[in-house]
Amino acid sequence: MINVENVIFSRNNKDILKNVSWSVNKGEHWCLLGLNGSGKTTLLNVINGYIWPMKGKVEVLGNLFGQTNIPELRKEIGWVSSSIQQKFNETDTVLEVVLSGKFASIGLYEHVENNEIEHAKSILRMLNCEKLQFQNYGVISQGERQRVLIARALMSSPKLLILDEPCNGLDLIAREQLLKYIEKIAENPSGPTLIYVTHHVEEILPCFTHSLLMREGEVFSQGATQEQLTEANLSSFFQHPVAVQVQQNRTWIALKEYAEERR
Ligand SMILES: Nc1ncnc2c1ncn2[C@@H]1O[C@H](COP(=O)(O)OP(=O)(O)O)[C@@H](O)[C@H]1O
Ligand SMILES: [Mg+2]
Repeated sequence: MINVENVIFSRNNKDILKNVSWSVNKGEHWCLLGLNGSGKTTLLNVINGYIWPMKGKVEVLGNLFGQTNIPELRKEIGWVSSSIQQKFNETDTVLEVVLSGKFASIGLYEHVENNEIEHAKSILRMLNCEKLQFQNYGVISQGERQRVLIARALMSSPKLLILDEPCNGLDLIAREQLLKYIEKIAENPSGPTLIYVTHHVEEILPCFTHSLLMREGEVFSQGATQEQLTEANLSSFFQHPVAVQVQQNRTWIALKEYAEERR
């Protein structure tokens, strides 16, 4: 699905990605974990062909960059982030926003067939948003917007679905709801390969079979999620001793010294 080899990306003489190598195979779902500014979004921008690395090889869905039509490839990649929320017209209905995913456009300018409307509605139903279909996008909640944007991304049946910090700004309940729907997408065997980006360890659902830990533009470690989210590895990753607790197959962490100081 993705093969990145020794990628280097720099801006203003600063290396933002330093020799990053990463492979994602079909059947895997990956989490990209890293603190703010560690280069996660930059790596995704490379994979989407929005920016071009100075060095290294990038291959996505069998397309080797430099020998492929990037706009065509992008149609097979769904992308959801809280930063794209503002791009949509507040007065468009939820159904229009979802349908626009078919054309990768902001706003709906093309004729849509009935079967496409039905398809959009069935995706909204799966994400429990069907009731919102005639509401204006501008008036729904943050959590609902994220679900609508996921529905929009699914409209083109992408092979790869990238979720860049989709739970940012959500309260606890809205976050857990969104995670539940993400899990549902992951469980569909004919669904897309998921790449989930976060800096919160507890958001890593059991469906994310693999994790890539990024620190300061470098791959700190990568592999099977269970092996990555150990106390030893996370303490070394955060450069701070952490205590790990596993609940409902998810890993929750606390900084060790802070807990001790409070005692
Ligand atoms: N266009 C840019 N110009 C200069 N610096 C950038 C640019 N984009 C990202 N950076 C820098 O690269 C680093 C990684 O950014 P980013 O990939 O957005 O991190 P993350 O998504 O992990 O929070 C940050 O230090 C950021 O300031
Ligand atoms: Mg980011």
